Amino acid sequence: MRQPKTAALILAAGRGLRAGGSVPKQFAMLGGRPLIAHSFDALAAHPAIDDVLVVVGQGQEEALMEALGPVRHVVGGATRRESVRNGLEALAGIDRVLIHDAARPFLAAAVIDRLLAQLDVYPGVVPALAVADTIVRADEQMGDTVPRDGLYRVQTPQAFAYDAVLAAHRNWPQDQDATDDAQLVRKAGHPVMIVTGDSMLEKVTHPSDFAAAEARFAAAMRVRTATGYDVHRFAAGEELWLGGISIPHSQGLSGHSDADVVLHAITDALLGTIGAGDIGMHFPPSDSKWRGAASARFLEHAAALVRARRGIIDFVDVTVICEAPKIGPHRDAIRASIATILEIATDQVSVKATTTERLGFTGRGEGMAAQATATVRMPASN
Ligand code: CTP
Ligand code: MG
Repeated sequence: MRQPKTAALILAAGRGLRAGGSVPKQFAMLGGRPLIAHSFDALAAHPAIDDVLVVVGQGQEEALMEALGPVRHVVGGATRRESVRNGLEALAGIDRVLIHDAARPFLAAAVIDRLLAQLDVYPGVVPALAVADTIVRADEQMGDTVPRDGLYRVQTPQAFAYDAVLAAHRNWPQDQDATDDAQLVRKAGHPVMIVTGDSMLEKVTHPSDFAAAEARFAAAMRVRTATGYDVHRFAAGEELWLGGISIPHSQGLSGHSDADVVLHAITDALLGTIGAGDIGMHFPPSDSKWRGAASARFLEHAAALVRARRGIIDFVDVTVICEAPKIGPHRDAIRASIATILEIATDQVSVKATTTERLGFTGRGEGMAAQATATVRMPASN
């Protein structure tokens, strides 16, 4: 059987009036990134999703560009329902669609898996959580309790057979609002299945929701630490590159690339945090294209791999082991250079040096060693 084609629609055309702030909430910063970036990456990275389309409000194109770079998008309408309709009409040639609120940033792959598994059987599937609190009717005073048995809080993404949800939207009376796509599909006569939602999917609606979401994000992150170590031999007539800068010295280090022992150690430490092997695996010395290469490229690559796993680089510490040259005078420049390559702040980089008291190969001045530790944070679900 042909694999079904699946698209995701991210709704980001609202004005976020209840959340306040200087920009609509979907573009506000959360967990160090624009809020919309979290769910966009989760959907784009899911192996079963072929296409992601963002719906933004009129005049929000620039904010979207700033948040995500150039991504496929259409302009939404005055209500959420109209925004969904515009998005659905812009899709074509697909079998299934996930409709997701940008305002629900933390979307685990497991939720998408649960939805898609049921979508093989039902034309509509929603994630929902059973209500745990006592529910009452209230005006200003408390009224009667509403029995909470069988009550659910419905979240997004909501997954549908594309034809069913498109028809439901086209046939919906224009003068009637609807905040939930599953309701439209159900009213059109299709069964909608419930799967277990996720407390991480809570919607950011009011100003205080940002702090709560920030706390959920932090709690879901796990710290990973890994080390790297590298050695290169001194050779006359070579330039000495350390931490991405050229250091004046009587000799340099020899190696296949520019032999930047500091960047190589950090590259291995970063690769270690994601269990992605070592620098030799990614840039084999046997490959002539890395001859004389600037090692900044190796480190940039390792950092990109960490970020692709939604990792945040928190800290890098490196110790240079040699008798000469003296590292102290170059420490600040090396820190700044490493920070620039990793796109982090200089105070997230530490550079130390030691001699080995004239002992061993470093003590005899035959070569230089560096050891590094990298600390990153990454979602536990990765
Ligand atoms: N949305 C949309 N088009 C609209 C209104 C809302 O795409 N015309 C999107 C929002 O961007 C959000 C989701 O639908 O991701 C859920 O809506 P809501 O939480 O109500 O967001 P806003 O409408 O932006 O906020 P508010 O109602 O407080 O103004
Ligand atoms: Mg709204």
